Amino acid sequence: MQINAKRVAVVTGASSGFGAAVARKLAQQGWYCVLVARRRDRLEEVARETGGEIEVCDVTERDDVYAMAERIAARHDAIQLLVNNAGMPGRGGFLDIEPERIEQVVRTNYLGNVWVLLSLVPLLEAGAPSHVVSVASVAGVIAGGAGGPYTASKHAQVVFSRSMASELAPKGIRVHTLKPGFAETEGFPQDRFLGNPISRRIVLSEDQVADAILRIVRRNRREMFLPKIYAPPAMLYGLMPNTVSRLLGWQTRKRDEAFRGEQA
Ligand SMILES: NC(=O)c1ccc[n+]([C@@H]2O[C@H](COP(=O)([O-])OP(=O)(O)OC[C@H]3O[C@@H](n4cnc5c(N)ncnc54)[C@H](OP(=O)(O)O)[C@@H]3O)[C@@H](O)[C@H]2O)c1
Repeated sequence: MQINAKRVAVVTGASSGFGAAVARKLAQQGWYCVLVARRRDRLEEVARETGGEIEVCDVTERDDVYAMAERIAARHDAIQLLVNNAGMPGRGGFLDIEPERIEQVVRTNYLGNVWVLLSLVPLLEAGAPSHVVSVASVAGVIAGGAGGPYTASKHAQVVFSRSMASELAPKGIRVHTLKPGFAETEGFPQDRFLGNPISRRIVLSEDQVADAILRIVRRNRREMFLPKIYAPPAMLYGLMPNTVSRLLGWQTRKRDEAFRGEQA
């Protein structure tokens, strides 16, 4: 039985960053939010602000995700929006990062996205026309420099979202893929850019990304870069992946060396 007459949104990764910011904006627009993440205390804080409800769930655990979907279905007949946003960084060179971390990055950023969507398809279909926003990354379409495991997980997320956009369209579920650039959040601190007056301009705020999540739905766009400036390099990368990767690798190495020099 439906417990409220409002439109219902499920937001994963709602305990901080983009997820918490978009939940606040959705609540201001009259949505009822189901907030999903692992940290109960942080979810409760956001729920107090937004008036929504919480679901403590680790998106990497398929059984837990299905149990969560069942609990949501017991309270709501349908949902109209899923913001598939939970994710984690995997910074550092491939040879430095722990193998367990690589596994966790893939299980969270890619498979977590898959399990949450799969478990909620019946409720999204019941709420059709409904929307799914997959919060991927520019790293989902451009590879170069360090961070291979994260980049690979985001590439997987992007192609999965693209396929889902076609497969779920007949059910009235529209799947959108947002590809943000660097943003300052709890899990993704951007000290390397924020320390420099020029590079700090490219760093987005949580609110800018939250606004873009709402915009991609409002405009019914399948994919969007944030900011748009990433679109031309992504096109170039599509045409000349090796050249662009090499350039990016060189530039990243230079930036990292300069940053280490400043820290020393
Ligand atoms: N910030 C950036 O520069 C940037 C750029 C492009 C894309 N992105 C993507 O944007 C998304 C949101 O990141 P953010 O920047 O807002 O980072 P954030 O503040 O660290 O938020 C990450 C959220 O994901 C949740 N989460 C992580 N692992 C989880 C798990 N196993 N199960 C359930 N929830 C989990 C975290 O909650 P708990 O720890 O409480 O579980 C947290 O709420 C991620 O997918 C990230 O890859 C970020």
